[in-house]
Parts: sequence; structure tokens; C-alpha cells
Amino acid sequence: MDKKTTPLIEAKDISIAFGGIKAVDHADVDLFPGEVVAILGHNGAGKSTLIKILSGAYKRDSGQILVNGEVADIANPRDAKKYGIETIYQTLAVADNVDAAANLYLGREILTTYGTLDDTAMEAEARRVMGRLNPNFQRFKEPVAKLSGGQRQSVAIARAILFNAKILIMDEPTAALGPQETEQVGELIQQLKSDGIGIFLISHDIHDVFDLADRVAVMKNGKMVGYAKTKDVTKDEVLGMIILGKCPPGATPGPGASDS
Ligand SMILES: Nc1ncnc2c1ncn2[C@@H]1O[C@H](COP(=O)(O)OP(=O)(O)OP(=O)(O)O)[C@@H](O)[C@H]1O
Ligand SMILES: [Mg+2]
Repeated sequence: MDKKTTPLIEAKDISIAFGGIKAVDHADVDLFPGEVVAILGHNGAGKSTLIKILSGAYKRDSGQILVNGEVADIANPRDAKKYGIETIYQTLAVADNVDAAANLYLGREILTTYGTLDDTAMEAEARRVMGRLNPNFQRFKEPVAKLSGGQRQSVAIARAILFNAKILIMDEPTAALGPQETEQVGELIQQLKSDGIGIFLISHDIHDVFDLADRVAVMKNGKMVGYAKTKDVTKDEVLGMIILGKCPPGATPGPGASDS
């Protein structure tokens, strides 16, 4: 990873509190093109809240978000999409009763010059985007309800990248999937990386993370414990960061690191 390139996105000193609880407490995180950064931490550590701030679902109390090195004004999900930030939540927002092409264009349909739906154009485009992501996918004419979890995931991702997502946020993408489908999502992520898309991956599965992520950012009680390249740390060390807030030698400590 060439650190001289500008990050796709950089969150600086982000904080938000709900009532008295500091859900995210002065957190920094960044993401470079073609990189997967896993955001890790226990239940309630602040992972989802942090990414909801990046995706415009929550408004931060303080801090700054930069996209391609420039301050980004993100106050709602529409703003975030404008900056190329798309989020895939665990509860996939796919419409079950229509096919893949219809899902890709839901709410943004292509029309013919007569103002009718241009099904041919939409299907062709769906085949192009899905072909790039998941070359084996053939079930274009079937309702999405009939597809496997991994295939539904690829439809949701295709919908995001069709509209020029540069930054993809995936909150527990494999939590509901079996081993084979988890592998399929892993292949999708590799494909997206090679297209230069940056991915924030939230996961509870430390094995998934080591297979997929270039770096980890570990949170505890809303604070960043530390950051590390996955190749510089062991799984046990990362577990130590998650559970004890203890930063190993291969990691860069954040404000949430316990004194060691
Ligand atoms: N809308 C909200 N209102 C009040 N408190 C909230 C809200 N959203 C999150 N919190 C609190 O903020 C803290 C961080 O929650 P968050 O959901 O970000 O954790 P998480 O790391 O994603 O956990 P999990 O692994 O369980 O998904 C928790 O204490 C949670 O109860
Ligand atoms: Mg969460």
C-alpha cells in the first residue's frame, strides 16, 4: 500500500454521545484505495455508530470527515452517497419479489425515450456489473428471494457499485452466511479491491478479518485502542486489543489503548 496516495476517506476526532454514553469518543480512521480496513471491537464498542456517522445515518457531535483529502459535508445518507460512500447493512436492503436487474435500478430506473421502463438496457447493465463481481451468476430472471445469501449479497454490492461507490462499508457481511457463501463474499471483496474500491469491514469473526483485511482498527468503549497491518500482528494479539485494550508492538496505539 502506497501511503503517499491520499486516503479515500479520513475520519478525524469523531465523537458522538447518546445521553451520557460516549458511543464514539475522539476516533480516527482512514482508508486507502483498494484497501480493506476491518473495524473490530466487542458488542457496544462503537463500530456501527462510527460507520453510521460516515454513512450519514447519524450526525456526529464533533470531528471532521475528509474525502479525497477535502472536507466533506456529510449530514445525511444522500450526502454520503454523493461522496461515493455506500453502506451494505447486515439486513440487506434488497426487494425479494423482483429480479436482480430490477433490484439494481430500484428507484433509479432507466426509461426509454417513450418513458416506459427500459428492461433491455437495465438487464444488459445488470449482466455487465454482476459479471464483473460474480462471473458465475446466471439467475438474472429469478426473484431475489430465490437466491442464496451470497448471491443476494452480490446483488446488494452490485447496486452500490453501479452508482459509483468508491467507499464501501460492510457491517457484518458474512454473519448470516454459511462457509461457502462466506467464501463467495470474500471473492467479491477481492474483486472490489482490484477495482480500487476501499472497504470498511465490520466483523466479529477474527478469521474472516485475517483473510480479508489489510489493516485492523480496534475500538473499545468508543475509543480507538490501536491500528495495525494484519501482517504485522497475530490473531491472539488482535484479540488482546479487543478484550484488554492492550496494543502489541506491531500496532500503533490510539487513545483507547490501556497502559502496558
Ligand atoms: N441510537 C442510539 N441511542 C442510544 N444509544 C445508542 C444508539 N446507538 C448506539 N448506542 C450505544 O452506543 C454504544 C455503541 O453501540 P454500537 O452499536 O456502535 O456498538 P457496536 O460496536 O456496533 O456493537 P455490536 O458489535 O453489538 O454491533 C452502545 O453503548 C450502544 O448502546
Ligand atoms: Mg454493530
